[in-house]
Amino acid sequence: MAENFLNKIICGDCLNIMQSLHSESIDLVITSPPYNLKNSTGNGMKDGRGGKWSNAKLINGYSNYDDCLSHKEYVNWQRKCLSEMYRLLKDNGAIFYNHK
Ligand SMILES: C[S@@+](CC[C@H](N)C(=O)[O-])C[C@H]1O[C@@H](n2cnc3c(N)ncnc32)[C@H](O)[C@@H]1O
Repeated sequence: MAENFLNKIICGDCLNIMQSLHSESIDLVITSPPYNLKNSTGNGMKDGRGGKWSNAKLINGYSNYDDCLSHKEYVNWQRKCLSEMYRLLKDNGAIFYNHK
């Protein structure tokens, strides 16, 4: 099953995609999930200052996602994502989870 994903970029909802894969079939997960910045009081990406990268495209927001869940919804979603990553991972695998 995982072979169908080799050398391809798959566009879809990460949870749906991960749920279609077999347990312990993945060596390495590298992810930079949405940071829920619109809800954040820090970092300043959404307050017009631009944070560290003043020309960042992300200042205009995502085209298909508003990045504005309640904290509870966001944490619940990310817990589901991390649980799926963990299920997919082989015993000697690793997850690199890049976050704010
Ligand atoms: C912090 S950005 C990471 C950007 C990436 N590192 C890059 O350089 O393009 C989070 C990305 O997650 C995507 N995203 C949002 N919801 C998603 C979902 N349910 N499944 C998969 N990707 C999603 C966003 O569209 C955005 O591209």
